Amino acid sequence: AREGGRARAEGAAPWAVGLVLVSGMCSLALALAKAALRWPAPGHAGGADDVEAGLWWAMAAWTATAGAGALWVARARVRAHVRQRSSDLEDPLLGGESQEGSGGGRAGAVRKLAKLSAPDWHVLAGASFFLVVGAVANAAVPRFSGGVVNAVSFGYDRSAFRTQLCLLTGAAVVNGIGSGCRGALFLIQIARLNRRVRERLMEALLAQDLSFYDVTPLGDITSRMNNDTSKLTDTLGLNTNVLLRNLVSIAFLLGFMLHLEPRLTLLTFAVVPVATVTSKVYGTFYRKKTKETQTSLAEAGTVADETLGALATIRSFAAEELMAAAYSEKLETFYVLQKIQAYWYIAYMATMTALPQLSQALVLLYGGHLVLEGRTQPGTLVSFLLYQQTLSSAFSNLGDVYSQMMQALGAADKVLELLERVPLFDNRSGAVRPLECRGEVALVGVQFQYPGRDRVVLKNFSLCVKPGECCALCGPSGGGKSSIVKLIQRFYEPDLGRVLFDGRDLHTLDAHWLKRQIGLVGQEPVLLARSVRENILFGLEGEGTTEEMEARMIKAAQRANAHAFVSALPDGYETQCGEKGTMLSGGQKQRIAIARALVREPRLLLLDEATSALDAESEALVQAALEELMTGRTTLVVAHRLSTIAAADRIVVVEGGEVAEAGTHEDLIRRDGTYAQLVRRQLGGGSSRASKALLMAGGEQDDEEGAEDAPPTLE
Ligand SMILES: Nc1ncnc2c1ncn2[C@@H]1O[C@H](COP(=O)(O)OP(=O)(O)O)[C@@H](O)[C@H]1O
Ligand SMILES: [Mg+2]
Repeated sequence: AREGGRARAEGAAPWAVGLVLVSGMCSLALALAKAALRWPAPGHAGGADDVEAGLWWAMAAWTATAGAGALWVARARVRAHVRQRSSDLEDPLLGGESQEGSGGGRAGAVRKLAKLSAPDWHVLAGASFFLVVGAVANAAVPRFSGGVVNAVSFGYDRSAFRTQLCLLTGAAVVNGIGSGCRGALFLIQIARLNRRVRERLMEALLAQDLSFYDVTPLGDITSRMNNDTSKLTDTLGLNTNVLLRNLVSIAFLLGFMLHLEPRLTLLTFAVVPVATVTSKVYGTFYRKKTKETQTSLAEAGTVADETLGALATIRSFAAEELMAAAYSEKLETFYVLQKIQAYWYIAYMATMTALPQLSQALVLLYGGHLVLEGRTQPGTLVSFLLYQQTLSSAFSNLGDVYSQMMQALGAADKVLELLERVPLFDNRSGAVRPLECRGEVALVGVQFQYPGRDRVVLKNFSLCVKPGECCALCGPSGGGKSSIVKLIQRFYEPDLGRVLFDGRDLHTLDAHWLKRQIGLVGQEPVLLARSVRENILFGLEGEGTTEEMEARMIKAAQRANAHAFVSALPDGYETQCGEKGTMLSGGQKQRIAIARALVREPRLLLLDEATSALDAESEALVQAALEELMTGRTTLVVAHRLSTIAAADRIVVVEGGEVAEAGTHEDLIRRDGTYAQLVRRQLGGGSSRASKALLMAGGEQDDEEGAEDAPPTLE
């Protein structure tokens, strides 16, 4: 019942608008009739004055009506705009750095888009030229049509008739060609803008810090890239075209009309736009009401579904009447809305049909009066009727364009937001490219938390891995091991402290050089949807001739235990890995990832749980490949496999973002601290000889047996 009440309250609004419009139209009709009846009264000298008085009377009534309507519309528009703005601000992508920079609203967006279109100025200049040509020809057509009528109305002026007809034909042809060329050039500009926006967007996205991707769903980003970009360029481009065409058209139409007959022009211009826009706006309101009605019916449907779907439950509560009442209530809302819609229909239909015709009558009244007085020619009146139609369709197009432009500007806002987002840090800031690389990596007093999260992940963390050293990180999951690996790759910046490579701050080093020195094998190898060859040689384009690269690739694949299975694939190294490497097994992918790391001969190797996602059999193969990879390089290995950890030169136990303890396997076992506990827990009751050996001597263990039992893990 409450909903019905609200609907009824809303129902008062259309009544008010309808009343204003209908009374406006009635007074207009009355004024017209009054003027027409009185004129021309026989022997009444003031006939012309009467007509003009009636006319101004009508215009006053009309302007008041239209003003009320316009105010009403403006209010609704502003409200919708405010609502739209506040919902925009809740958008996750709008959060972050760019927010201050993106002020300026619609006008700002338009200015930025104009700047984005600036490189296409020559295309736009061509389009504008044809725009003007087309508009001039278009505006000339009614004039020549009137000329033809004039030529045939006062006696038959054959030559004027022919001339005017030729001019008319010429204008039509020029109009057609001009419109075509203008449209084509605008389409080309849209396509160029589309390409440019996408390219810039891609650049902007590639420059973002990784924390942006941590907090932003990928779907949102791709939707911006695809839907919003298309909406921006296509809808906006198309509508700009329509907008400009109609605006320029209107300008030229008015110019021609003023030149032809200033008095009639003033009248037409006062009446036609108002009539067109009012009926347009009214149509929009009416459609909105229709939508509301449909929604309320859907709500009633939901209640019915719920009721019939759970009938047994409802019966067991003897709640049939209750549900029937709930359904009736929804239907009542629907009925009220439909009734309101029906009332709207009166005003809607009246406006849509009567307004344009009444405005035409007004022009005819005054124009006819002028012709009868001999102050203008009948052809001019014909021209004006045609002008009125052209003008009214131009204004009607403008009404369509407005709402679509607003939508497209909303999409533009979103795209521009992303285009202008400033990354938290510039990952391309450094420029130093040292000639020598020792491969020493150090974290000094690092404090780190992920941007936008309040949990401190690393606290005053220090670690130095000497050139050629193999350092293992272990400890409970969530301790911060992977975060260390990410910091070394400069995916994030530490909040405090420094991350050094060969004694230099990472942000001073050239990003390409740095990444060329580092090899990474992670838990889930990510292969790109390309061939095996392209995956292994990824990022090495131009480092050698094709033959050299081929030899390097095969050598790397052999050392990574991958050559045999890749050669056995039907297409060998040309086999497509498929989306994210789904064509290959986990162990195969990992060995390709190892080959990819090997072929680059990195100075520093980062291994993050590289074998943890594999079954025992592929783990042994991958482990062997990893050992090949680790020889002779600085290695930082995050592992849970006891044998890998125990074999390291140094073990660092990371717990709660801090170094819990560090030393060799023997040291740590002897200390009997966290590490020894972890080892013992993993091996607790373990029957494996290898495991027992690990606990006692450390390091010396039998790989064969280790692979047979489930590999002992440390977490
Ligand atoms: N991308 C991320 N964004 C926010 N928090 C993260 C992210 N990655 C990891 N964390 C958090 O940081 C902490 C350390 O994680 P991580 O370095 O992955 O630990 P480990 O590798 O030792 O298991 C965890 O609490 C985890 O929830
Ligand atoms: Mg981890």
